[in-house]
Amino acid sequence: MKIAVAGTGYVGLVTGVCLASKGHKVTCVDVDENKVKKMQRGESPIYEPGLPELMKESMENLIFTTDYKSAYQDADVIFIGVGTPEKYDGSANLTYVFQVAKQIAQTAEKHCVVVLKSTVPIGTNDKIESYIHNKQVNDVKIYVASNPEFLSQGTAVHDTLHASRIVIGVTEEYPADVLKQVYENFDAPKLVVERRSAEMIKYASNDFLALKISYINEIANLCETVGADIEEVTAGMGFDERIGHRFLKSGIGYGGSCFPKDTKALNWFANFNDNELRTIKAAIEVNENQKFKLVKKAKKYYNDFLFLNVAILGCTFKPGTDDLREAPSLVNIPILMEDGAYIRVWDPVGQENFKKCFPEKIQYCSCIEDAIAGADLCLILTEWGEVKEFDIKKYEELMKHPIVLDGRNCYNLSDFANTRITYDSIGRRTVNPDLYIEK
Ligand code: UDX
Repeated sequence: MKIAVAGTGYVGLVTGVCLASKGHKVTCVDVDENKVKKMQRGESPIYEPGLPELMKESMENLIFTTDYKSAYQDADVIFIGVGTPEKYDGSANLTYVFQVAKQIAQTAEKHCVVVLKSTVPIGTNDKIESYIHNKQVNDVKIYVASNPEFLSQGTAVHDTLHASRIVIGVTEEYPADVLKQVYENFDAPKLVVERRSAEMIKYASNDFLALKISYINEIANLCETVGADIEEVTAGMGFDERIGHRFLKSGIGYGGSCFPKDTKALNWFANFNDNELRTIKAAIEVNENQKFKLVKKAKKYYNDFLFLNVAILGCTFKPGTDDLREAPSLVNIPILMEDGAYIRVWDPVGQENFKKCFPEKIQYCSCIEDAIAGADLCLILTEWGEVKEFDIKKYEELMKHPIVLDGRNCYNLSDFANTRITYDSIGRRTVNPDLYIEK
């Protein structure tokens, strides 16, 4: 079977490489020539553990090109994995999806199945189908199927090869049979559903997880007020299989390329259809406030941030990625800088991307020790393994005022018992709360 994949971001490239690793001949198309040249050399343009290795192993089945015509004209299946970024009003921008649809309509020379992997509002597959049928040049049958992607950055290869489920949304039998064949060697439950249901499954899943996080963050905030410990609370809740332990980690909110965008898109779409989703609206609001939690906490210790040395540990939206999209660092660091703080940032892989956003006034450090040396305050924004395994005594030894504000609950409270470190985390009591209060 000849497969084409439009777009080589996280979704497109990981899909293309995983399909190639299962023996399919895959042509990946992207408009960015430099990116394509890089991939032709066998290099991955994105940071994703395991992807470069799998790509190298599967190169004999992979073609990378900017020439969409050669890719689409005789393809049996064309996956669309281009971005659907957030528009100013929160709705999804479908420009790139429609651009690819137009190219397919102009070039397809044989029957094929167009598969939408990109996250799109409910009803988009229908629109793409009509659009292609209206614009197609050759008299061939072009089917459209929805096959949403559930991969997480950092574990994208594993999530694709061992998917929790493969959702196939169709209106006819033929595209379902073709997709079942494509995924024949993937060990995952395959669900064939209505196309609109498939589109909804994607949004409903992501938004449910976002809701779960916002819910637990609100409970964590209440724990702080009433003297309960969120880590104990979630451990106790998670044993109930109906709740589960996962996605109950409280912190400074969710970021990344999906949850913020998909909650806003579904909220917009629901409002547009006169069907307000109050839970999702609340999840969005809670998350927006939660991102500022550490800066608010910092105000307990300092009246203002003028001339303070602040160490930032982690700037990506989560560990295992160099992605900064919607990361709490992007909103917290500007506040501190605007108030006159000197910022030192450490992040094992996100630093280079962060430098592009903040080329000036920030000192970038190659180790945690350099970032915290002489600091008045340390903010942990991402739970990198290096932070979790860091010898906490060094905060006391190296910082001028060892006040550690942990937005990801990286340590046990008991670790700080015999120290002179103020340790203030999310949803738990503060250890040594009064040592360095400036009043
Ligand atoms: C997410 C979904 O998990 C994935 O299924 C979908 O296809 C794309 O969106 P991703 O954005 O890569 O994946 O990361 P994920 O691991 O889900 O984390 C998203 C954000 O939620 C991160 O900022 C993370 O720190 C936060 N999070 C996650 C929490 O705050 N608490 C948790 O318990 C879990």
